[in-house]
Amino acid sequence: MEISSFDQYHQVYKNSVEDPEKFWGDLSKEFKWHKEPENILQWDFNKPEVRWFEDGQLNITENCLDRHLDDKGDQTAIIWEANDPGEAPRHITYRELFDEVCRFANVLKRNGLEKGDRVCIYMPMVPELAIAVLACARIGAVHSVVFAGFSSTALADRINDSQCKMLLTSDGSFRGKKTIDLKAIADEGLKKCTSIQKVVVLKRTNGAVHMEPGRDLWWHDEMEKADSQCDAEIMGAEDLLFILYTSGSTGKPKGMVHTCGGYMVNVTYTFKTVFQYQPGEVYWCTADIGWITGHSYIVYGPLSAGATTLMFEGVPSYPDMGRFWEVVARHKVNIFYTAPTAIRALEKADLSFVNKHDLSSLRVLGTVGEPINAEAWHWYDQNIGKGRCPIVDTWWQTETGGIMISPLAGITPLKPTYATLPMPGVQPVLMDENGQPLEKANQEGRLCIEFPWPSMARTIYGNHQRFKETYFSAYPGYYFTGDGCRRDNDGFYRITGRVDDVIIVSGHNLGTAEIESAIDEHQKVVETAVVGFPHDIKGNAIYAYVITRDQIDDEDVLRSEILALVSETIGPIAKPEKIQFVPGLPKTRSGKIMRRILRKIASKETENLGDISTLLDPSVVEEIMAGAI
Ligand code: WT7
Repeated sequence: MEISSFDQYHQVYKNSVEDPEKFWGDLSKEFKWHKEPENILQWDFNKPEVRWFEDGQLNITENCLDRHLDDKGDQTAIIWEANDPGEAPRHITYRELFDEVCRFANVLKRNGLEKGDRVCIYMPMVPELAIAVLACARIGAVHSVVFAGFSSTALADRINDSQCKMLLTSDGSFRGKKTIDLKAIADEGLKKCTSIQKVVVLKRTNGAVHMEPGRDLWWHDEMEKADSQCDAEIMGAEDLLFILYTSGSTGKPKGMVHTCGGYMVNVTYTFKTVFQYQPGEVYWCTADIGWITGHSYIVYGPLSAGATTLMFEGVPSYPDMGRFWEVVARHKVNIFYTAPTAIRALEKADLSFVNKHDLSSLRVLGTVGEPINAEAWHWYDQNIGKGRCPIVDTWWQTETGGIMISPLAGITPLKPTYATLPMPGVQPVLMDENGQPLEKANQEGRLCIEFPWPSMARTIYGNHQRFKETYFSAYPGYYFTGDGCRRDNDGFYRITGRVDDVIIVSGHNLGTAEIESAIDEHQKVVETAVVGFPHDIKGNAIYAYVITRDQIDDEDVLRSEILALVSETIGPIAKPEKIQFVPGLPKTRSGKIMRRILRKIASKETENLGDISTLLDPSVVEEIMAGAI
């Protein structure tokens, strides 16, 4: 099943869609199971219901750790690079990682956690974050990692939604020049949570923190008491592995549920196949473990494949715009996987920041998170890859768990801005607005998937109905991605962007409704409409149209209050770039906001606003245009 030529890709792809059960069933055999699965797939997209390898029994950490100990025990599993280049990197071997994970798994157990319990992880990008994730998986506890840039309110909402029993956090975190008091933010959030019984706190910044007696424990104290022998909990393939929240088109984030067996097989296979990982190579994905990219392609995929995975605590601009390239040179990184927004930011910096570092170790480059524009693609190709590294533009989602459409490095012919071809086992379909599949070449439609793949989310935690409505109702019988997509003459796919109310800002998925309801909390605000508009570096930025209760004396004061409110409610990533105070919003007679018009005004494309005659009050459009920023 290994793919080493484009012809072979076509052959494997063909086999994978003709007999998906055989394809995935064969792939599952390379893993360590306590009971090998015989029952490969049950599914029904109308319910929806999907179960892979259902009678299989396993523990994913035995696949990520135990099975490598004999021949890779002394190989580095994780290279950790600190925020500050002056702080020594850490190299953790597979054996050391195994010991630490088992030890921490015992800490979790001793503090009352059992299989199925939910654990919230709110930590900086330090090796202990990966250890925490794996320790949960070791004992069958369900981890819910919340990105450490989220606010106390966002943290509390996520803890409450899945009723987490324990929180793992740190005193603080370093991000560039800033030190963030993570524990203080967590404490603020915990005031609104009743399900948390224990909080384990890692020392990272050595800042002063409040420790709540009877609830809060120091990580290092607990580890000292723990034994490093911990048998893995035997899990059913369809038992929950983790929950990860993503934004949707209502205010409430969706807890996407991923299960053990299918997720493991899928992320391991895609990691090896897309990047063509070779034993001994150093692989670096710059994402945060707080996002799906980090789950699948920093932790589970690479470790299950026995790779050396680099974890970076810092930001691309600290101490200067050459930091990524310095890290590549320092650790002789072979495979580098990042986001278009980072590329665009670094592209703006002087080339000397790139050229003073030796990038000759690089073999493969990757991107993920949003469409990459041609200019950024070429800059990446020429200046980072020096024209000799294939770029894999990987399209996928929190919901898909693993890479779905992507070139295979060195195998698939590249076409800038195209994610190119589906992975084996992935069956994309383009739909027109009426739900008719588009069969011909050179057409654009809505991207759906017509057959299950093993790492797909199984449900939204606690809300299967919403899962059905969001993903399986627009086109009955198909999974709907929310993305627009074009397919060219060669059958290559190019993702054109979201067609729903989700905005991708700097690669982060944000729901318009979530931001709107945060702004609406301000007592001076009556109603808000939020749209995305193109932004040079962020890809998209947020434009908020705000109706206020009364005449405002000082717009700038209210603007900064709104920004602070969004920061507090969601996090700094969701702050609008522009806030315009408007007398009204363009609404249809049924009360629906015509975002299409607001999008055009925000993008300064006002020559052709389309038909506005169906609006309740068309004159409001003139007024909004006159005040546009
Ligand atoms: C949305 C999913 C997948 C991990 C990071 C984001 C957009 C993702 C690409 C790409 C064009 C892309 C889509 C998708 N997206 N990768 N290579 N080309 N668009 O995960 O937060 O769940 O967001 O990101 O719009 O639906 P996510």
